[in-house]
Amino acid sequence: WKTLDDMDLNGKRVLTRVDINVPVENGEVTDATRIERVGPTVQDILSRGGKPVLLAHFGRPKGKVVPEMSLKMLVPALEAAFGTKVHFTTLDEAEAVIDACDPGQVVLLENTRFEPGEEKNDSALAKTYAALGDVYCNDAFSAAHRAHASTEGLAHLLPSCAGRLMQAELEALDAALGQPKRPVLAVVGGAKVSTKLELLGNLVEKVDILVIGGGMANTFLAAQGVDVGKSLCEHEMTGTAKEIAEKAATTGCEILLPRDVVVAREFRENAPSEVVPAESCPADAMILDAGPESVAHVEQAIDRAETLIWNGPLGAFEIAPFDKATNAAAAHAAKATANGKLVSVAGGGDTVAALNKAGAAEDFTYISTAGGAFLEWMEGKVLPGVAALG
Ligand code: 3PG
Repeated sequence: WKTLDDMDLNGKRVLTRVDINVPVENGEVTDATRIERVGPTVQDILSRGGKPVLLAHFGRPKGKVVPEMSLKMLVPALEAAFGTKVHFTTLDEAEAVIDACDPGQVVLLENTRFEPGEEKNDSALAKTYAALGDVYCNDAFSAAHRAHASTEGLAHLLPSCAGRLMQAELEALDAALGQPKRPVLAVVGGAKVSTKLELLGNLVEKVDILVIGGGMANTFLAAQGVDVGKSLCEHEMTGTAKEIAEKAATTGCEILLPRDVVVAREFRENAPSEVVPAESCPADAMILDAGPESVAHVEQAIDRAETLIWNGPLGAFEIAPFDKATNAAAAHAAKATANGKLVSVAGGGDTVAALNKAGAAEDFTYISTAGGAFLEWMEGKVLPGVAALG
């Protein structure tokens, strides 16, 4: 694929697909990482005399106009990050707003997912977008696993290229994980097995050690006949968890599950808690974190590994004290990386938030802005948004 370096942008309207699907609470952006990381692309287009016209989605409004999901609320954060005026417009009025936009300024189109054709990759909608620009630049690696009109269809209608963040993501992931140094350790956590099922099935073929943590570990414990009390557990997935464990045995992938766990009767900050063996969760309690023995086990795995891929926290990291295992393992991985002993790559909103909270993100080799796209890339899947760039 081409990059911005290959394109003539002078005086051109550059339709730029970005992913600014950021966490927002009460109208305030709580983590601007995704916005900041598209800054270099916007600056580059501006410095080459182009007019950036940003296309982006927010949330999952499913083809309907949902006022709380309007991108208008992100204008102040974009202006702060880009240091220039950002003109917001709906698709209907876009042509006039783009024409009136002065050089050095940016246009932001309304949430692409308000359009019923967006997620259907509707060709008429892609043509409507294409009529608003001269060049297409895709900088949304984290949305590249979606074949939507603004991420895929549009790429076929205009001279297209990858933006700086897209380039950086693909280059960094390829450098760290394309031909990884072994042993490769994957830490996969988070709430549900069902959302990462395919990933786990594929990962046991690719990695040497797989740490399963967070809520999804409970489903694997239940598959071994362990009573997990009131813990989050997808009981209907235990058969699949068993199959994944059996597959791992045939591929030589070592699966590590928690040995001891932190249990509590309530899910709230500083709820009274205790450490028990993983197979001894009281019937009226829930597992909310991995215990110290499990953490030591994960740390030993980190010491054995040359490459670490991390997606998903090991416990309910949002509330203390159930962030301990995630914090400890993150700090351990950060130290190993800083000492030059480990290549570490992490992706996914919760993971990045957990690593930031643990103060570990800075030392990681690479932090991806992508969640789902990072996982699909790791599985070796073709990402439609990347493939469409040729
Ligand atoms: C993300 O947040 O991972 C991307 O913006 C994609 O969002 P989606 O899962 O709603 O397609």
